[in-house]
Amino acid sequence: MDLFELLAKRRTVRQFKTDPVPQADVEKIVQAGLLAPSPNDSHPWRIIAIRNQGILREMRSAVEKKLDALFPAPTGDKKTRLDKVKNFSTIFAQAPLVLAVMMKPYRAIVDDLLDGSALTHDQINALRKYPDVQATGALVQNMLLAATELGYGAVWVSGALVASEDLDRLLKGGEYKVQTLVALGRPAVSPEPRRAYDLKEYLATID
Ligand SMILES: Cc1cc2nc3c(=O)[nH]c(=O)nc-3n(C[C@H](O)[C@H](O)[C@H](O)COP(=O)(O)O)c2cc1C
Repeated sequence: MDLFELLAKRRTVRQFKTDPVPQADVEKIVQAGLLAPSPNDSHPWRIIAIRNQGILREMRSAVEKKLDALFPAPTGDKKTRLDKVKNFSTIFAQAPLVLAVMMKPYRAIVDDLLDGSALTHDQINALRKYPDVQATGALVQNMLLAATELGYGAVWVSGALVASEDLDRLLKGGEYKVQTLVALGRPAVSPEPRRAYDLKEYLATID
C-alpha cells in the first residue's frame, strides 16, 4: 500500500476476531518495529509476544486491582469514568496477541561526561525529554503500520502501565521493563481511514 494511504488507514481497533496471529507475521511486525530510529542506535528494546490466555488474564486482573486500589469506591459519574478507564486499560486481554514492548535505560554518549558533574543519568535523560522513551514511540508506530499493512487491527495500550510492577513480574523481562503494550488481531470492525487535518491548527513556520 502507498505509505500515505497506509498512514491514514491505520486506526485503533479494539474488537478482534479470535484467529491466531501466525509467528511469521509477528516476526514481520517486530522487524518493522526494529527499523525505527533510537538514540545512538542503542535499540533499548525487547519485545515479548504473548498468546498465553492465562497470562493475559493475570495481566488484566493486575490492572483492574491496581485501578481499584488507586480509585477506591467511586460513585456516580466517577464510577462510569473508572469503568471506562478499566475497559481501555484492559482491552489488550481481548486480543489473540499482545506485544509487550520492554525497555532498559540506554547508555548515551553524554553519560561519559557525567563523571565529576552533578548530573545523574536519570537527570540528563529527563533534560533531554527521555530519548529512550521517545524511541519506543517510533518502534510502536512502525509496528502498527506493519500490522495494518498485513491486515491486522491493533491498539496501543498505555493505560495498563499503572500496574507495570505486576506486569514486569508476570513478563519476567529482567532488566527490561514494560514500556507499553500493543494488542492485535484480525479486526472485527473496519474503522474509516483518517481524513487530512487542518494544518492551520497544527503547523507553524519560522522562516
Ligand atoms: C501513547 C498512547 C497510549 C494509548 N493508550 C491507550 C489505552 O491505554 N487504551 C486504549 O484503548 N487506547 C489507547 N490508545 C489509543 C488512542 O486512544 C487512539 O490512538 C486515539 O483515540 C486515536 O485514534 P486512532 O488510533 O484510530 O487514530 C493510546 C494511544 C497512544 C498513542
